[in-house]
Amino acid sequence: MTDQNIKQNIEHYDQVYAKLNIVNIINSVNNPEWFLAKNATRETSWHGLYQAGFIDAIKGRNVLELGCGDGLNALLMAKLGANVVALDISEASKIVIEKANETLKLPVTAITGDFLGIDFRLQTFDIVVGKDFLHHLTYEREEAYLRKIATLLKPNGEARFTEPAVNSKFLDALRWIIPVPGRPSKLNKAAFREWKKHDPHPERENSTRHFRDVGSRYFSSVDIIMLGSIERFHRIIPPGKFNDKFRRWSHRLELNLPHWFRHYAARSQAIIYKYPKKENE
Ligand SMILES: C[S@@+](CC[C@H](N)C(=O)[O-])C[C@H]1O[C@@H](n2cnc3c(N)ncnc32)[C@H](O)[C@@H]1O
Repeated sequence: MTDQNIKQNIEHYDQVYAKLNIVNIINSVNNPEWFLAKNATRETSWHGLYQAGFIDAIKGRNVLELGCGDGLNALLMAKLGANVVALDISEASKIVIEKANETLKLPVTAITGDFLGIDFRLQTFDIVVGKDFLHHLTYEREEAYLRKIATLLKPNGEARFTEPAVNSKFLDALRWIIPVPGRPSKLNKAAFREWKKHDPHPERENSTRHFRDVGSRYFSSVDIIMLGSIERFHRIIPPGKFNDKFRRWSHRLELNLPHWFRHYAARSQAIIYKYPKKENE
């Protein structure tokens, strides 16, 4: 059954991915060192995903990416040596990946659909990743997805997600007041109401505590790295070289800050679930 949450994601992302520039994706994948030097040092979700030895961890491994979107990360992981299955609910995502892969010819299989309905037969994975993905799921679907991920992962496998972090009510309220491209300020009530009708995010909590609680039901180890506690302020700096520099510097600076500060001020988090609990244990 296709519910409202799934419908809204399909409607939204089919439009987004239909407009993508495939040449840009191909160029980025063909230059992984350049792409990661530029993005994994600056963009919070790339930074979160590609840390703690991720490049070495995926080499020669079977990786499943959920909510793979434009396929850039799935194709990049394959370029770095992984065998990748890339899944998204949007059909347009598969079209983009297959089109880019006509040129790239990488070991990536793109599939469309609800993860729960897909039969992977006896296939298992070393790593499951999701970049800005879990927070698009309702609680019920997230719980069922994590349960299925735990069954598909090898015993020493890992699931790694980068997700928004909302641990401070004050900073969250501030975030909704500051408009960003494509989303009006909450103070602009009419425009915000209109935007909300097409928003693909369900109403839910994205706190660190939530991801720790839900993950620990299916995994024996949960490690969460707080990110973007300083970087989040790049939004008040005009785009350009100084903005980029600030973002890079802030990721390095926050490593020296106290954990409590990073916890409350983080705008993003890298969530690493290890040692899946198998149902028959
Ligand atoms: C914020 S986008 C992130 C896309 C990509 N991972 C990235 O980082 O650019 C969220 C993605 O999750 C996908 N998505 C939402 N709900 C999904 C579901 N139930 N199953 C699979 N994909 C889903 C959307 O279609 C969209 O591509």
